[in-house]
Amino acid sequence: MYNNITFVNEDGIGILTINRPKVLNALNQATMLEIEQVLTDIKADDTLKALIITGAGEKSFVAGADIAEMSSLSAIEGRAWAQLSQAVFAKIENLPLPVIGAINGFALGGGCELAMACDIRIAAVNAKFAQPEVSLGITAGFGGTQRLPRLVGKGRAKEMLFTGAMIDAAEAYRIGLVNEVVEAEQLMEAAHKMVAKITKNAPLAVRLTKDAVNTGIELDLTSAIAYEAEVFGLCFATEDQKEGMAAFLGKRNAEFKAK
Ligand code: HXC
Repeated sequence: MYNNITFVNEDGIGILTINRPKVLNALNQATMLEIEQVLTDIKADDTLKALIITGAGEKSFVAGADIAEMSSLSAIEGRAWAQLSQAVFAKIENLPLPVIGAINGFALGGGCELAMACDIRIAAVNAKFAQPEVSLGITAGFGGTQRLPRLVGKGRAKEMLFTGAMIDAAEAYRIGLVNEVVEAEQLMEAAHKMVAKITKNAPLAVRLTKDAVNTGIELDLTSAIAYEAEVFGLCFATEDQKEGMAAFLGKRNAEFKAK
């Protein structure tokens, strides 16, 4: 059904793989539109508990936007390309599911930006990160100028965005760009372990937590804290809150139903 991506639902865990290994999984428009389509399906599928995003092959997560396709864009087309991709990445960021980026190699330009749209990033030791756009005469355009400083701070972000220099997985971990670094062969297992640690918790509480973080970070602290109280209050309308607290008080494991 798709030409540039694959998607499987493995017992409620969605695995989305960017699949253009001949060009190191570079993102062209056709790929971006397929990602958009699969995200619509993922959002509507209530059997899914989490999503893992990775790249095909052993060398690359995503080596950026497709430079061959981008090279002849007009200014208007360039803006539209950025806007399309920004909207797709925002859709990832706002999916009502935890999204884990399993970074299996190069995460450059649009690839680093795709990783940053995930909630949590786990890198293989061979992963490499960069925002090399300035070396091509362009700026980052899929959210990198905004998500990178929010993740690693303005100074580190500007260094990466101004120099375009590649950093390895250890450095990405040191600056907080990735949550964990593992051996390449253990990457998917590590991603599944992270998913399991999250999905043992109350699904609606995790979803509301994601919403509180994503919404709150765009607001001033007073408004964000007020939003947190609303989200917190809402939890008491769920069966999972009753189950979670009853299980604690009854000294047993909770059985959450996402209700
Ligand atoms: C198109 C790409 C590509 C890309 C790699 N390829 N990256 N094609 N767009 N982003 C292709 C190569 O042309 C080559 O095709 C094949 O993949 C294998 O790549 P090689 O360069 O031969 O591999 P290697 O020598 O190992 O070098 C790997 C690499 C290098 C360091 C990752 O490919 C590279 O620097 N790629 C570009 C990275 C980049 O600048 N990304 C940012 C793009 S801008 P052939 O046909 O020769 O085999 C961006 C902007 C986003 O993302 C915002 C826009 C609004």
